[in-house]
Amino acid sequence: MSEDQIKVRRGVPFEGEITVPGDKSISHRAVMLASLSNGPCKISNFLEGEDCRSTLSVMEQLGVKVERESDGEVTIHGCGGNFQAPRADLDCGNSGTTMRLLSGILAAQPFHSRLVGDPSLSKRPMRRVIEPLALMGANLHAEGDGGAPPLVVEGGSLKAIAYETPVASAQVKSAVLFAGLFAEGITTVTEPSASRDHTERMMNYFLVKLRREQLKDAGNEGPAARVGTSPKIRVTLAGRQKVESRDFKVPGDISSAAFWLVAAGARPGSRLLVKDVGLNPTRTGILAVLVRMGVKVREVVEISDQGEPVGLVDIRGAALHGTTIGGAEIANVIDELPVIAVAGALAQGITIIRDAAELRVKETDRIAAIASNLRAMGVTVEESPDGMRITGGAKLKGAKLPSFGDHRIAMAFAVAGLFASGKTVIENTACVKTSYPDFEKTLKIFQKGASRPRGSVRVFSGVGRLPGTAEG
Ligand code: S3P
Repeated sequence: MSEDQIKVRRGVPFEGEITVPGDKSISHRAVMLASLSNGPCKISNFLEGEDCRSTLSVMEQLGVKVERESDGEVTIHGCGGNFQAPRADLDCGNSGTTMRLLSGILAAQPFHSRLVGDPSLSKRPMRRVIEPLALMGANLHAEGDGGAPPLVVEGGSLKAIAYETPVASAQVKSAVLFAGLFAEGITTVTEPSASRDHTERMMNYFLVKLRREQLKDAGNEGPAARVGTSPKIRVTLAGRQKVESRDFKVPGDISSAAFWLVAAGARPGSRLLVKDVGLNPTRTGILAVLVRMGVKVREVVEISDQGEPVGLVDIRGAALHGTTIGGAEIANVIDELPVIAVAGALAQGITIIRDAAELRVKETDRIAAIASNLRAMGVTVEESPDGMRITGGAKLKGAKLPSFGDHRIAMAFAVAGLFASGKTVIENTACVKTSYPDFEKTLKIFQKGASRPRGSVRVFSGVGRLPGTAEG
């Protein structure tokens, strides 16, 4: 297995049960909140991907003591927000979440810091966090062209603001909320539709009081106005609250599960059970999209005692049909859109993705990358500024495809390769390690079915244990 290439051939229906690695968004926030807390916090099922390790090592540079217990287990000794000035640049690697969320914390620290990233992160827009933080009185600027990193922060005291985010972005909302924790007064963030709410849930879990509410329908304040009729969300947080140290177990990442949900969902005769996966409703849009495309989906929340619902997803593959994805739904599926586009190519009829201009400023321009790779596999795709129109149902041809240095593009097209004729090779796939270091091991299970001699295969949690077969 070459680290820089993923080779994949057509798979066949299979029956199996898998788990996926810890959630990336939640792992970042667990490290940040634990660092801000007033004592030790044991984080388990922490995602050992490069993005989350960047957050961990930046926190160490800020003087937070981190003990590595074992793979996926880390104890963080919170410093109650009394960080040390870093002696060098803070390297956020490929991780926009690290840079944007940390900017909110660093804006309030009485020292200078400089956040840098890899070539991809160095092109990503930072004005979206600079603007609200500057309104709070923070002194920060981007050194790169057009508001790109490095990001230089001269921290100091902050004042609370009421901020309305122009697009639904959990990163912007979270940067303001983290800054709001240090500010005098009440900070509110209003977003046009719900972005993932892990920061709010996890702040609550670490005993920070805040309120999250769905607003009334704008312009209708009369008796007919009802709470919850507008997609707008407002979060209210009082500053200067203490973060209590607590242990936390990170749920499995539904964005990582999404690759297998499409791999099984698009293949009639398949049945897939994903266990211990996060089922936060601001992240499960992928399930709704698959249901609309014809997949049978069962979702069971088993626990939610840490503020995050966790459970299982059980799906049966089907012949897919096209759908339209847009509006308030986009924030909920933003990271799944590459693999949803692959599902669209496998479906009969037209799939339309719109209102997703944000895809153009992710790890790469994901609209251009998806369109170019789908075309290379023989699919008709029309790009638009904020999405694409995919004509489904063509037979996919195996191809040599670039990853564009983007983990989700690499993994989405490895899944496409499971449905293509011949061999598909994804190049430059070291990026997969940012969010799913063991992706290829699970991909092999999906491949393995292709050569199994007879009977059905049950793949139990973990990789390669196949009871009742020669490999079991
Ligand atoms: C993330 C939020 C999303 C998402 C990213 C992770 C987070 O970005 O695409 O992968 O952890 O807050 P935006 O907030 O920019 O939409």
